[in-house]
Amino acid sequence: MRLTLDSTTLRRLFVTDLRAFQAYRNDPVVAEFQSWDQMDDDRASGFLHHSATVTPLMRPDNWTQIAVADTETDALLGDMGLHLSADGSEAELGITLAHAAQKHGHATRAVAMAVGFLFDATAITGITAWADIRNMASCRLMQRAGFTQNGVEVTDGVTEAVFVLKRQDG
Ligand SMILES: CC(C)(COP(=O)(O)OP(=O)(O)OC[C@H]1O[C@@H](n2cnc3c(N)ncnc32)[C@H](O)[C@@H]1OP(=O)(O)O)[C@@H](O)C(=O)NCCC(=O)NCCS
Repeated sequence: MRLTLDSTTLRRLFVTDLRAFQAYRNDPVVAEFQSWDQMDDDRASGFLHHSATVTPLMRPDNWTQIAVADTETDALLGDMGLHLSADGSEAELGITLAHAAQKHGHATRAVAMAVGFLFDATAITGITAWADIRNMASCRLMQRAGFTQNGVEVTDGVTEAVFVLKRQDG
């Protein structure tokens, strides 16, 4: 898979992304609203190897993790998680960018490409994204990407806005 929109590319994650991946995954500012566990290098290598080789990319009841990369250099800027529901009818997405890669429009372009990819490659009727209501950058991103807020959900004391985007072509 390789999708490009201006300076932003979506591609598979590679084991060679390890250093950049670990740098932003271990950045407390980037992790503030994320629930992931920190990975040591061995675990992160295994995760990247799995992401690089798993086929098919979108499997029901599974997360697919892909890279957000710089189109010119192919350097890793961040990653995106795409989930297909068990019955294949709904997708979920989440995105993380390294601090230095934020505020250049990469996330907006990455989400636009992912939305096109998900509606083209699967039979989903809609995509959902959750954003901690304190995470204003994430809430603004989903609104810019055309998602509509559909209430909030509270899980383990964290209030998240639920953003949804329905398939337009019937
Ligand atoms: C959520 C997240 C991906 C949003 O990233 P982002 O950098 O705000 O979004 P974009 O890359 O699309 O950049 C758009 C921002 O850059 C600004 N910008 C500057 N130059 C720009 C350009 N050339 N093109 C587009 N936007 C530009 C926009 O005005 C916008 O800023 P605003 O939100 O203050 O209005 C990022 O904050 C992040 O990775 N956070 C940590 C992980 C996380 O919490 N993820 C969400 C949970 S799933």
